[in-house]
Amino acid sequence: MRNPVPDLLDRLRRECADADGGEVLATIPELADADPDLFGVALCTIDGTVYGSGDDDHRFTIQSISKPFAYALALADRGRDTVLEHVGVEPSGDSFNEISLEQSGRPRNPMINIGAVTTHSLIGDPKLSLEERDARVLAGLSAFAGRELEVDEAAFESERAEASRNLALAYLVHAQGKLDGEPHDAVDGYTRQCALLVDARDLAVMAMTLAAGGRNPVTGEQVVPTWVCTQVLSVMATCGMYDASGQWMSTVGIPAKSGVAGGLLGALPGQVGIGAFSPRLDEIGNSVRGVRAFEHLSAELGLHLM
Ligand code: DON
Repeated sequence: MRNPVPDLLDRLRRECADADGGEVLATIPELADADPDLFGVALCTIDGTVYGSGDDDHRFTIQSISKPFAYALALADRGRDTVLEHVGVEPSGDSFNEISLEQSGRPRNPMINIGAVTTHSLIGDPKLSLEERDARVLAGLSAFAGRELEVDEAAFESERAEASRNLALAYLVHAQGKLDGEPHDAVDGYTRQCALLVDARDLAVMAMTLAAGGRNPVTGEQVVPTWVCTQVLSVMATCGMYDASGQWMSTVGIPAKSGVAGGLLGALPGQVGIGAFSPRLDEIGNSVRGVRAFEHLSAELGLHLM
C-alpha cells in the first residue's frame, strides 16, 4: 500500500499556506530579510524515517528552540537538583524576554530568555572556558539532530550587537546569585546557541529524539538519559509556547517549542517528532503557518495527548 504520509504533508502545507498574517521578526537585523513565504514541514517517526514537504531543507537559526536542548544538556551534565536550584519549572505567563523571576531570585523556567541564559551557564563542567562550553553545546545539539550543525556567524554577530536586554536579564540573575559565571559570557554563549542553523527536518529528528527518551532514532545514539527527556518534555508542555502555552496545550496538545526565526518543534512522547518552519510570527512570537500546520496535523492524526 502507498505510504500516505508524504501526500498528507503536501496537502497540509497547501491548506495552511493561506495563513498569511503575522510579521517577520524585525528586532534581529539579520533575520529581518527572511523570505516571508518560506514554508516547510517535516515529521520523524520512532523508527527514524523522516518525511518532509515544501521548504523542509531550508536552513534558519534555531533561536529559542535551542532552549529545551540546552536544558537537556544542563540536566545531564549537572543533575536535576543543581539545575533546579538555579531555574524553576513554572509557566511565567509573560513574554519570552520579560523579567520573570520567582521570589527566591530563580528565573521561572528555562524556556524564557532569563531562564535560558541561566541554563546555558549550567552546561558542562563549571570550569569550562567559553569556547569549551560552546563546543559542548554544538556537539550536544548536533547529536540531537544526527548531523554536524553550524553557527550562522552573521546572525550571531547581529544579535550580539543588540543584546542589551538579554544582558540586563543576565545581570539581574547574577545579582540574585543564580548565574553560574559572568553575565557577558552567559549571553555570548546563549546567543551563539540561538544562531545554530537547522531545517525543519532537523527539528523533526531532534523532537523525535526527545520523544524517544533521548535515543536519536536515526543514528541510534543515546544523547541524554531518559529521565532528562521526561523533565524537558514536561517543561515544554507547560512553558514551551510562552504565554500561549495553555491555549496551545488545549488546542494542539503536543509538547512544543517555537523560535523567532519561524521554527516550531513538537514532540509527542513515544510517537512522533514534528518540525515546521515559516518566518511570519504572531504577536506572541510563534510562527503563524507553523501553528496552523500543528493544529491541522494534531486534529487529522489524532495526536492530542489528552
Ligand atoms: O534571545 C532572544 O531573544 C532570541 N535569540 C531568541 C528568542 C526566541 O526565539 C523567542 N521565540 N519565540
